[in-house]
Amino acid sequence: MSSLANKRVLLGVSGGIAAYKAAELVRLLRAAGAEVQVVMTRGATRFITPLTLQALSGRPVREALFDEAAEAGGMDHISLARWADVLLVAPATADLLARLAQGRADDLLTTLCLASRAPLLLAPAMNVAMWDHPATRANVALLESRGVALLGPAEGELACGEAGAGRMLEPAELLAALEGRFRRGSLDGCRVLVTAGPTREPLDPVRYLGNRSSGRMGYAVAEAAALAGARVTLVSGPVALACPPGVERVVVETAAEMHAAVMARAGDCDIFIAAAAVADYRPQAAAAQKIKKSAPRLTLDLVRNPDILADVARLPRPPFTVGFAAETDDLERHARAKRMAKGVDMIAANRVGPGLGFDTEDNELLLIREGGSERLPRAPKTRLARQLIESIAAAWRARREPAATGDDHAQGTA
Ligand code: PMT
Repeated sequence: MSSLANKRVLLGVSGGIAAYKAAELVRLLRAAGAEVQVVMTRGATRFITPLTLQALSGRPVREALFDEAAEAGGMDHISLARWADVLLVAPATADLLARLAQGRADDLLTTLCLASRAPLLLAPAMNVAMWDHPATRANVALLESRGVALLGPAEGELACGEAGAGRMLEPAELLAALEGRFRRGSLDGCRVLVTAGPTREPLDPVRYLGNRSSGRMGYAVAEAAALAGARVTLVSGPVALACPPGVERVVVETAAEMHAAVMARAGDCDIFIAAAAVADYRPQAAAAQKIKKSAPRLTLDLVRNPDILADVARLPRPPFTVGFAAETDDLERHARAKRMAKGVDMIAANRVGPGLGFDTEDNELLLIREGGSERLPRAPKTRLARQLIESIAAAWRARREPAATGDDHAQGTA
């Protein structure tokens, strides 16, 4: 049985040529057992008739913000927003992305997106130049930072004759993505907070102390946790990665900013995973002007940064805490010492150095927790992250329900 059985899908259709694919999407959703309510923008009705989508969905298509018949039937826009288990807009045009980014409510579809607490998924479709335009890029980044999930677009031939990114995903791909959202995962209902990437500690207005973290490991962990059903917040240092679908991202620069962003949220999470490479020290004071190279030597006065992971572990009611340990030598001994010193539940230790750990596609991890350890051999960070999340989920459940989960905690013990 599909995970969409009996789920209520509010399908928004906005005005682009890909609107014709909405008919097949509605058919697939209905075949998967979902209830589908189609809401069209005025532009969409010029590409495909409401009657087609009404016949396929078995429900009158909604278009007007003020619909007297619907209001009389108890389905005003607020009731409709509450009715939905998920909102999917396919196709989502550049104009729709812009209106959603601004929080506008100037038609029924944008009003519903604003009024609903259900997850919002967007399947963009547009010309490649419109997709690449800085305005669209900024709108997408803003929407993703609010936890909106972008499905696609794919690359390929576009209806306008150009080729590139901008094709709406095929209806079967959208169906699979939606089914994935409703599949029960090992972290269903769990709130996960993840840190990722480097921090930058300013020396002067143009220079900083930083490190080689690309953010890949932490972003893969955030994505894997979201795929396992968790509500994920990612506190990220400056990196060049897109926010994983369905993840809320908070971007920071310095260790102090990361500390503040994490401490403001740590009390509300079940699991905290610290994958960021946080600077242990920062310049005592950043120079107000660019430092001139007049002196033959320059001595930097550095002071300690707060330890985010240790501070979270010290909270009166701490979440399940997972730290990473980046070591160049004696991996296991240093990692065990770090777990004890910071008082955390689990350490994922990785060797770092040239071609290892930092800024690489692959990694390997040694997981150390009370009473056991587990080796995750070299693999792409995305795969390792999924394995790590399953180990964390098992250990977290074992801590919450010791009797019910039995041997889970000892699994893989070396
Ligand atoms: O980003 P990538 O290029 O993919 O690289 C991944 C990675 C190598 C950065 C990642 O796998 C990793 O090891 N992250 C932790 C790096 C690190 O700072 O390790 P550490 O041994 O110095 O710190 C131990 C733990 O304390 C870490 O969980 C760290 O996030 C945390 N910490 C450290 C200092 C500090 N002030 N606050 C912290 O929370």
